Amino acid sequence: MSTPGDAQNRDEVQDGEESQVEDVQASAAQSGSEDQSGDDAKSRGDAKSHGAAVGLQGDKITIRGGIPLVGRIELKGAKNLVTKAMVAALLGESPSVLKDVPNISDVRIVRGLLGVHGVKITDGEEPGDLILDPANVESAHFADIDAHAGSSRIPILFCGPLLHRLGEAFIPDLGGCRIGDRPIDYHLEVLRKFGAVVEKQPSGIRMSAPNGLKGAKVELPYPSVGATEQVLLTAVRAEGITELKGAAIEPEIMDLINILQKMGAIITVDTDRVIRIEGVDRLEGYQHRALFDRNEAASWAAAALATEGDIFVGGARQPEMVTFLNVFRKVGGAFDIHDDGIRFYHPGGELKPVIIETDVHPGFMTDWQQPLVIALTKAHGVSIVHETVYEQRFGFVDALVEMGATIQIHKECLGGQACRFGQRNFNHSAVITGPTKLHGADIEVPDLRGGFSHLIAALSADGTSTVSNVGIISRGYENFITKLQLLGADFDLEG
Ligand code: EPU
Repeated sequence: MSTPGDAQNRDEVQDGEESQVEDVQASAAQSGSEDQSGDDAKSRGDAKSHGAAVGLQGDKITIRGGIPLVGRIELKGAKNLVTKAMVAALLGESPSVLKDVPNISDVRIVRGLLGVHGVKITDGEEPGDLILDPANVESAHFADIDAHAGSSRIPILFCGPLLHRLGEAFIPDLGGCRIGDRPIDYHLEVLRKFGAVVEKQPSGIRMSAPNGLKGAKVELPYPSVGATEQVLLTAVRAEGITELKGAAIEPEIMDLINILQKMGAIITVDTDRVIRIEGVDRLEGYQHRALFDRNEAASWAAAALATEGDIFVGGARQPEMVTFLNVFRKVGGAFDIHDDGIRFYHPGGELKPVIIETDVHPGFMTDWQQPLVIALTKAHGVSIVHETVYEQRFGFVDALVEMGATIQIHKECLGGQACRFGQRNFNHSAVITGPTKLHGADIEVPDLRGGFSHLIAALSADGTSTVSNVGIISRGYENFITKLQLLGADFDLEG
């Protein structure tokens, strides 16, 4: 492994964000939005800001609102599964084939990081097919790894597979949406339990496994999606049995388990968030069609409701969206379930206020609240959103208030049970009073889901809005500009 040194261009790389134009023209660039997570609690204070996407061409969209979005769009695989499935390919002794991979910048980042570790990645026959060949996995040069610093949270999941393959790993500083502190203390604790030696360095984290990795008993303090994936990706090849208590059980995690089982892993999901993994000596490649992106489906559903439109979301399925569908119906939205997707529409009449508490699965996902808040500004009465997963996920509402919404943010746990943020001075409850008419404004995208909610706000507002920093949205929404065109939105891209 190359020795970490100072990267001259670190800040440029971290601050870079790809141009929105790529969404239309599919030019590839590294995305480097948003903040870095900390190491243990100690490094939280070190977190650098990578939020600004400066001086980018085509990073602005001017939207003339008030037109219902109507039409059909198609989903591909879930951002929050596909990127982890790509990492899982590192564990196989033969090539893997992943289907329905969306063309989003998070995928390109993971592709780049796998590439610098010797994984050969080629496009398959069908659009969205990726073939990942890990035959020549090798340690990457520090500069190549460091070029990915601040770009995504996925690199932390490379640890287990790289430790199994190479006995060592170096992980650059992480990125991800600026929606809370987002420490990685659970991840590091998990890896230490498996026997990894973790060494924090100025530019990232170095790990080694001098005695190999051994199965462990792990109990997570909170059902973290990423830490559960960390356990899975490490335990499948560790010697002996791993028992994970307090696991996250999101559908994307279940689909990762499907993939690992196809590779030869032995994983049992018990009741009460307990997962048992029997380590095996060898895993093969997999062939898998990724689970659809239910966060994207919920986002377009929210757009249909707020614009009084009618959108058929091809590829969306009911079982993974039951909780969302209940809330969508309570607000006054309508949906029809079909074999090939779900039609979401505004059936006419008044929208109704709701009380939502975000939670881990099977609760109402945190990623759904931001887009749905726009419809709540149009509901007749007072809605409450209590955010219990991330402590800072209401940064997007300032712009909505500027557009005419009535939203107050509170530190108290409103509308539900007390959560772990209640006594900690975090602005994590929103009170939305409606109906309000939104009017056009110049607004700036703060994070991925907040960015999509800004798009919905502008699409449903009276008059013209300019939304800047929209490049962030292409981290997780494939071809969203093309989809907006298909749905009849009236807009211009600038730059
Ligand atoms: N947490 C810790 N320590 C850790 C790990 C997590 O305190 O070591 C805390 C976090 O700070 C947070 C909570 O646990 O308060 C939950 O975090 P989790 O680990 O579950 O989230 P994640 O794995 O970082 C994934 C998705 C998020 C999604 C969450 C929750 C990916 C790449 N990201 O994040 O997606 O909101 O799970 O479902 O899979 C998005 O798509 O916009 C997005 C943010």
